Amino acid sequence: MEKIAVIGAAGQIGSELVMALRKLYGNDNVYATDLRQPSKEVMDSGPFQILDVMDDKRLIHFVIRHKITQIYHLAAVLSGNAEKLPVQAWKINMESLMNILDLAREVTDIKKVFWPSSIAVFGPTTPRENTPQLTVMEPNTVYGISKLAGERWCEYYFNRYGVDVRSLRYPGLISYKTEAGGGTTDYAVEIFYEAVKSGKYECFLQENTALPMMFMDDAIQATINLMETPAEKLSIRSAYNVGGISFTPKQLAAEIAKHIPNFEITYKPDFRQKIADSWPASIDDSLAAKEWACKANFDISKMTVAMLNGVKHKFGLI
Ligand code: NAD
Ligand code: SER
Repeated sequence: MEKIAVIGAAGQIGSELVMALRKLYGNDNVYATDLRQPSKEVMDSGPFQILDVMDDKRLIHFVIRHKITQIYHLAAVLSGNAEKLPVQAWKINMESLMNILDLAREVTDIKKVFWPSSIAVFGPTTPRENTPQLTVMEPNTVYGISKLAGERWCEYYFNRYGVDVRSLRYPGLISYKTEAGGGTTDYAVEIFYEAVKSGKYECFLQENTALPMMFMDDAIQATINLMETPAEKLSIRSAYNVGGISFTPKQLAAEIAKHIPNFEITYKPDFRQKIADSWPASIDDSLAAKEWACKANFDISKMTVAMLNGVKHKFGLI
């Protein structure tokens, strides 16, 4: 029987991934862990433990005590926050991954590890449109540098020690259940809250900044598909490109205005504009589609309806 630990379970992805995994593997078999308490839904539906992924001794104790067979390691400092404290962000992002990889190497019960990478592994010298799986990678943010180094370590641990670690280069993820965690793509989440609350939004990116994005349901499905694919079908042990949708703040605002006719957007770019300018505008994920049937179901209009309904429901408006 699988026993799964999700590290960083209180975050934007973890709060939804835990629920999806509990549906698949049974509530009692999916342990949520984080430094802080997760959502009520996560707390009420299965086990939760406060656990610092940097504390390797407690980590190994936890894994052995609960006979953990799969780890999803989601704890990290995201792009915007990482630029404020680069050395601390590097330390958290890298040391936590090394703790998990070493654990998976030493504890033979652990059969699979998931660790997310990001479109941030690409940089200003990467082709921006339809960015290929294999291409120039010269990230110039501390977050991107840590993700690229992380990908290299994952591939190394797979080749050298046989650790079955799998990864996706998530684009910006859009969801309403839990707040976004300090990234450059967070505008595409905040905009929905402000549209519903006040009918206007001041965007921290310029109107024509296209970025790859994905609705959370598609990201969770992609994660689970990747983890359930037989190991021999996977040719990539760094991280797979996953595409989703691509749009600019202006296009997203126009989509929202179809449902909230007086919606107004203004633009006041901050330090995150430079980060966004160094990232791809769209992603080629044909290899992921071929090897493990990666497919996004939400386009910009379907995602907008789901987000507006989700946020209104959260505010008790519907
Ligand atoms: P998030 O910031 O919302 O959640 C991260 C969680 O990790 C938080 O709940 C935090 O409390 C926890 N955490 C931080 N330090 C910890 C520690 N030392 N020990 C235990 N828990 C700790 O982030 P997210 O958006 O859910 O992202 C999860 C992962 O996916 C990260 O690796 C991130 O880089 C990656 N990713 C996210 C996106 C996105 O758009 N959300 C895109 C690409 C990649
Ligand atoms: N959404 C993430 C960020 O903006 C991308 O990894 O940091």
